[in-house]
Amino acid sequence: MKYLSRRSFLAGAFTAGVALAGWGLAGCSAAQTGSASASASASGALAASSGSAATSGASSEPAAASSAASSMNAASAGASSEASVAAEATSAGPAFNLAKRTVLLNNGIEMPVLGLGTFILSNAQAEESVYAALMAGTRLIDTARIYGNESGVGRGIARAGVPRDEVFLTTKLWTDDFSNAAAAIDASLQNLGQDYVDLMLLHHEHAHDEEAYHAMEDAVAAGKIRAIGISNFYEDGIARMAQAANIAPAVLQNETHPYYQERGPKAAAAESGTVLESWFPLGGKQDCHTLFADPTIAQVAANHGITPAQAIIRWHLQSGNICIPGSSNPDHIQEDAHVWSFELADDEMAAINALEQGKRLAWY
Ligand SMILES: NC(=O)c1ccc[n+]([C@@H]2O[C@H](COP(=O)([O-])OP(=O)(O)OC[C@H]3O[C@@H](n4cnc5c(N)ncnc54)[C@H](OP(=O)(O)O)[C@@H]3O)[C@@H](O)[C@H]2O)c1
Repeated sequence: MKYLSRRSFLAGAFTAGVALAGWGLAGCSAAQTGSASASASASGALAASSGSAATSGASSEPAAASSAASSMNAASAGASSEASVAAEATSAGPAFNLAKRTVLLNNGIEMPVLGLGTFILSNAQAEESVYAALMAGTRLIDTARIYGNESGVGRGIARAGVPRDEVFLTTKLWTDDFSNAAAAIDASLQNLGQDYVDLMLLHHEHAHDEEAYHAMEDAVAAGKIRAIGISNFYEDGIARMAQAANIAPAVLQNETHPYYQERGPKAAAAESGTVLESWFPLGGKQDCHTLFADPTIAQVAANHGITPAQAIIRWHLQSGNICIPGSSNPDHIQEDAHVWSFELADDEMAAINALEQGKRLAWY
């Protein structure tokens, strides 16, 4: 039961107030810069075959995308001519509409497919990052009760002044709260300063998770949550929850990146129309530099004149994975938001698909 050890670590770390921001020692900027010159010997063929497929680079992203006034709807109006991107063989699940930058969840609610993650951000950092993301046009924000930064997230949303119905806010119910979920849901709403959240997830598979899921269903009926889902569930747990649920999970949030593509759980979830959302989409704070320096990813980025982070984000989106890169750096947040003016070619997608190693990068 691998989730138990990870859960235990997180609980210990957070309740003890461990300074997780220090974990990993450094972010990935330097490594990413360096990755532009990474050896691409393994990717020569990819460069040759895909160079002509490269469309305009990220630098040509419309300025409107970074305007505070840009909303999900405005963004869709200014989007490129991309058609709806159907899920591919390796990416079972609901089809993404990349022109609108959304996916229609199995409960009929539209969810942005690109957002901001706030793991290990302090309240102050979360406020700044959420503000920067909303200013950059990002409309999906992911937090969790165990992150201890819900109040900062709420302040960032309030400061940005974006109409509440244009922001899609996710939080998660921690395992310690599974037997007392109704109160925990209310506590999250209070921390966030919100009447409702758009999505709430069970953070991990754990004892009393069905009881907690039913509490979230009750909160949907009460208008406190618009959609519910699960996180860190695998095939058996996904099947169990599908049986127990009165409202099918709308989202499965699991570790997913090019080295760990989570195809089995994704396909299992898709049987209920549940969409995969990637955590550690860039490999996490500790290992994103490894992905950025991967020759295949560096080559795909070079093909389009974009950064490795943007190439990976675009791979998630074209694979049908909701992507929530985390960042405390406003420049990175801007960069991560601007992935709409280029499209990875089929051979580039296939090359990144082939990077699957079944390799988890999570450290807990
Ligand atoms: N459900 C779960 O159990 C679970 C677990 C983990 C995470 N999550 C969620 O998933 C989100 C994403 O995961 P994560 O934040 O841990 O990992 P991640 O998004 O894979 O990677 C975050 C790292 O990438 C760096 N980064 C981001 N954009 C960059 C760019 N354009 N250039 C260079 N570096 C860049 C960040 O550094 P800077 O800060 O310097 O930009 C940070 O060190 C979390 O924030 C959280 O909301 C959920």
